Amino acid sequence: MLHDKIMQEKLANLKKNFVDELQNVSNLLDLDKFEQKFFSRKSGEITLLMKSLKEVSAEKRKELGKLANDAKKELQELLDAKVFGLKNKDKDKLAETEAIDVTQPKLPKHLGGHLHPITIIQNKLEDLFTSMGFEVEDGPELESDYYNFSAMNIPEDHPARDMQDTFYVKDHSNWVMRTHTSSMQVRSMQKRDTPMRVVIPGRCFRNEATDPRHEHTFYQLEGFVVDKNVSLGDMKGVLEATVKHLYGKNSKIRLRPKFYPFVEPGVNGEVSCFLCMSKGCRVCKNTGWLEIFGAGMIHPSVLKEGNINPDIYQGFAFGFGLNRLVMLKYNIEDIRNFQSGDLRFLNQF
Ligand code: PHE
Repeated sequence: MLHDKIMQEKLANLKKNFVDELQNVSNLLDLDKFEQKFFSRKSGEITLLMKSLKEVSAEKRKELGKLANDAKKELQELLDAKVFGLKNKDKDKLAETEAIDVTQPKLPKHLGGHLHPITIIQNKLEDLFTSMGFEVEDGPELESDYYNFSAMNIPEDHPARDMQDTFYVKDHSNWVMRTHTSSMQVRSMQKRDTPMRVVIPGRCFRNEATDPRHEHTFYQLEGFVVDKNVSLGDMKGVLEATVKHLYGKNSKIRLRPKFYPFVEPGVNGEVSCFLCMSKGCRVCKNTGWLEIFGAGMIHPSVLKEGNINPDIYQGFAFGFGLNRLVMLKYNIEDIRNFQSGDLRFLNQF
């Protein structure tokens, strides 16, 4: 039995350390480390303390439990206030440097600029998904190892990490440049109440030897739905509507099994080739089909990480490669054009 006096002391110490250390945190990267240290669901100091309540005598447990819970709430509030403070500090700085001068004369037409083709397709998809009741969310490009991999059912030593090698941040080994927008699934789930429908467009990174089909920086659009009684059929319906919106009413989709650790079952999604009307051409390599997305039913362990009970709720998720959608639409042969900044390429759109 743990003596209740010792527990009270431990609690007081923890609070003191928390407050002292929080004072020294001066940026969001360090804040995330700090949050993990105290609140991590496996080894956070607060979590461990709550767990050790089991060892206190039954009659004292209730009282101490309440004390511990109140302390946890209090510390969470301090943390939230710090997040708010740090985020706004950056915003104020941005406002100073990015203020728009409304008295500046309009640019001559030939310097006016226009949207990048990736932005055009992203806007088009955002419009479609919002019309289907999805929210659009943004997420960080520099992501924790946890949200990018572990929470997505890709543990540290899992070979699936090899398929998505990325860029790590010096001296912050648990931060990575996100390899896919799937990194936002668990973040979004943790923030929302069920049911939910969310799309997340954004830039992703992988450690690739670049060639006409591979680039270290590219764009994806992630989408997911969590609700009761959601099926693979619903998923197919949503994806079919998307493909028809992009490539015309007569387009069809084909789903074939593919392994992704964060979905079960997982599929590889193809659209009927709109360049040759499925007759077979160079672009579809004579198959009549073009691969454009990955999708599947969200794996129960991913739902659990998002604080969702997989016995009650199901979900499906999908991810489109935006570069690929644009490349197919305009018959672009080299993915490296997108990042080249070459005006001869950009001025065509
Ligand atoms: N994240 C996967 C990739 O980048 C795509 C995907 C998203 C697959 C959602 C299934 C579900 O390859």
